[in-house]
Amino acid sequence: MAVRIDGKAVAAKVREEVAAEVAELKAQGVETGMAVVLVGDDPASAIYVNNKKKACSETGIYSEVHLLPTETTQEELLALIEKLNGDPKINGILVQSPLPRHLDEKLVVEHIDPKKDVDAFHAYNVGRIMIGDFTFLPCTPAGVMKLIHETGLSVEGKRCVVVGRSNIVGKPMAMLLLHENGTVTICHSKTKDLAAICREADILVAAVGMAKLITADMVKPGAVVIDVGMNRSENGKLCGDVDYEAVEPIAGYITPVPGGVGPMTIAMLLKNAVRAARLQNGL
Ligand code: GUN
Repeated sequence: MAVRIDGKAVAAKVREEVAAEVAELKAQGVETGMAVVLVGDDPASAIYVNNKKKACSETGIYSEVHLLPTETTQEELLALIEKLNGDPKINGILVQSPLPRHLDEKLVVEHIDPKKDVDAFHAYNVGRIMIGDFTFLPCTPAGVMKLIHETGLSVEGKRCVVVGRSNIVGKPMAMLLLHENGTVTICHSKTKDLAAICREADILVAAVGMAKLITADMVKPGAVVIDVGMNRSENGKLCGDVDYEAVEPIAGYITPVPGGVGPMTIAMLLKNAVRAARLQNGL
């Protein structure tokens, strides 16, 4: 039976630390501020943005949400970002993805001042992560690292397998594991014999967005299994990339969905916001 890693509890602890830091900055006359931009009316994105706004308010961070209509032009969106770049009340800027198809997401992200890029999506910050000298940790991978640390195990020398190669999770995830001296393999849709590679993992991170892809035969007994997936199963239930019921008796540690990695992403975003405020005020 695996030990369940409680992401909700770890995230609550991080949020408490952030709230204390925000209060400490406020006492020095520095207010932390974040702007969240949402274009269009995707219902899932609206929920994410609302959760971010609520998290800011609960930790004492000033936030403003910019809701723009679907038909917003590229020029209008870039003009808003430029305005936020120059706004001293705003330390962090986040443009919720996905954007409507007529907008160029890459160009939009590159317009955000890297010093305010609390998602760490800007190529400058991605490069900094690559060389291991970064200001902002990418939120979801940073949350995963925190959950791995919760087990008390060291990453050093461990076989780490990351399933998924997205720019947001898979690639930076692999880098953070490498920075802690893990031996890292990245798997993807063209990988041959995925099960055999996964079975070698002491630390297995699943971040593909395919319900229950990781089955019991793909997990080494005692492995740390981290599930970044957030999917709907055939009966509409929320489930991860890992078949939790089947894998849980084999793994050493496992994160549930929901209540695992999910809550960590926002907690790490708040941490980046307060870091941005500190740096922009020379602290
Ligand atoms: N859409 C889904 N996850 C994220 C995230 O972490 N940041 C942004 N900006 N958009 C997202």
